[in-house]
Amino acid sequence: MSQNPSDILTHCESGVMTITLNRVDKKNSITAAMYGAMADALVQAEADPAIRAVVLQGHETVFSAGNDIGDFLNQPPATAESPVYRFLHGIAGFSKPLIAAVCGPAVGVGTTMLFHCDLVYAGDNAAFSMPFVNLGLCPEAASSLLVPQMFGYHRAAEALLLGEPFFAEAALEVGLVNRIVPPTEVNAVAQGAARKLALKPLSSLIETKRLMKQGQAPQVVARMTEEGASFGRMLREPAAREAFGAFMEKRKPDFSRF
Ligand code: COA
Repeated sequence: MSQNPSDILTHCESGVMTITLNRVDKKNSITAAMYGAMADALVQAEADPAIRAVVLQGHETVFSAGNDIGDFLNQPPATAESPVYRFLHGIAGFSKPLIAAVCGPAVGVGTTMLFHCDLVYAGDNAAFSMPFVNLGLCPEAASSLLVPQMFGYHRAAEALLLGEPFFAEAALEVGLVNRIVPPTEVNAVAQGAARKLALKPLSSLIETKRLMKQGQAPQVVARMTEEGASFGRMLREPAAREAFGAFMEKRKPDFSRF
């Protein structure tokens, strides 16, 4: 699938890089090219000492519908160097503060990427979901490790096995979200927090984040690798083919044979 160069926008100002998902007509679903552009932006932000924090944002009506299903079917991630994995490892290992501004649907990776952000601000219209089972798949982005840890097992099972959406208040209650604000204010609130962080000593920010995360960093990487192997295999199996085919044909999937 060709990438529209404006599907991912990056903007640097006052020590903050803002990465914007800008494919609203397709609900900010993410193609391989978009993952690649975001992974490259994170590498640039990591290397540039003038960038001291990064904001990930969507539109006030939608954060992201997750993987672009057609694109995923056409070019499934084959290796650890695939753009989606470069992006996921990029956010998991990002050393500087990462702030998300989330409004509307945040499906699949639209939710799982948030577990790697340091601060998450949500619009009161935010709807989070991780419907991997409904797609014949399994969790990714180390969410099989991080969701039970944050939510507790039973709420994690509800989110990951039933795969139904949960909303801003529930996300606040389990600790996925720092604050709920009106959708028109979310990007500004995230930007305000990022600029506040950008005025602090970068070395202290990086060291504090490293110390908070170092305990489980190796487990996160190992889990992402294990999930990636299963996800890649399951993507080619009949249940996922049925789920994705049903989405493309705008019908309900029939899993009775799988
Ligand atoms: N991949 C590709 N296209 C997608 C998409 C995705 N993940 N999510 C939405 N789109 C497209 C739709 O096909 C539609 O395109 P069209 O206008 O050419 O028909 C357009 O975006 C609008 O989507 P629509 O479903 O009509 O919007 P909605 O407001 O009714 O619902 C969502 C929004 C996000 C709840 C719904 O689109 C959805 O559930 N998408 C699938 C999410 C998903 O399963 N992602 C996980 C992938 S691993």
